[in-house]
Amino acid sequence: MRLGVNIDHIATLREARRINEPEPLEAIAYLRNAGANQITIHLREDRRHIDDVDVAKIIECSPLPVNVESSIQPDIIEYLCSLRPHSITLVPEKREEITTEGGLNLKVKTDQIAKIIQIIKQADILPSLFIDPHSEMLQLAKQIQCPKVEFHTGRYANLFLMLHSNLALTKHSIREFELSRQELHTLLTQEIKNLAQMAREAKDIGLFVAAGHGLNKENLKPIISIAEIQELNIGHSIISRAVFVGLQRATEEIIEQFKYPKFY
Ligand code: PXP
Repeated sequence: MRLGVNIDHIATLREARRINEPEPLEAIAYLRNAGANQITIHLREDRRHIDDVDVAKIIECSPLPVNVESSIQPDIIEYLCSLRPHSITLVPEKREEITTEGGLNLKVKTDQIAKIIQIIKQADILPSLFIDPHSEMLQLAKQIQCPKVEFHTGRYANLFLMLHSNLALTKHSIREFELSRQELHTLLTQEIKNLAQMAREAKDIGLFVAAGHGLNKENLKPIISIAEIQELNIGHSIISRAVFVGLQRATEEIIEQFKYPKFY
């Protein structure tokens, strides 16, 4: 299992004070020491955390491969292709959202997405599509010749939180999932089954499968038990945990779980 660590929130903290610390670039040595395989960053259209200078510096200096998440906005794609990161993951983006909500709908602007995939490939960069784990999206990813997909695990993570934490009792309760424990359990079991089935289907049609969003050391086990999922990209939970135990340790805690992938 490969681990990509999303370091956007280091820049979020910097932007909260609008000065020059913490510096996202500094994170990379700690992540490498911990055994992470990839650095993931998102150059958002509103530049709310990582900015153009961060992306250029990180791609130039990182000893680990850099995966940049981007919307399908042409000027951002053109800028990223000029920097030649290891991979570019196309994600949906809404200005007002707190984080990426749901996967990219490949039924909309399919030709434009297909063209961007070709542009990325021509720049010798690995393209990836952040999609919901649905068969229709997999078939479209294959059709537009994208070799890699990343499943959005947000629904899984939200169900898990509502069932296994006190979130429902807080102001951040997820209204959509204010259900009985039995109902949450059923939906969560179905979600894990679907992720496993879609990962198999993706592998069968020749796609490399990654997953990410909302993953943490509590909810990781069922996901890493799915053998076809070969990469995880984790951000918020690692940066949150790093506040207490440091970035290197927080990353090691995730990697330690990879040694025991079985979920009972
Ligand atoms: N993968 C992708 C494509 C994402 O957009 C995000 C969120 O920025 C992540 C992984 C990481 O999600 P989280 O911060 O919830 O771990």
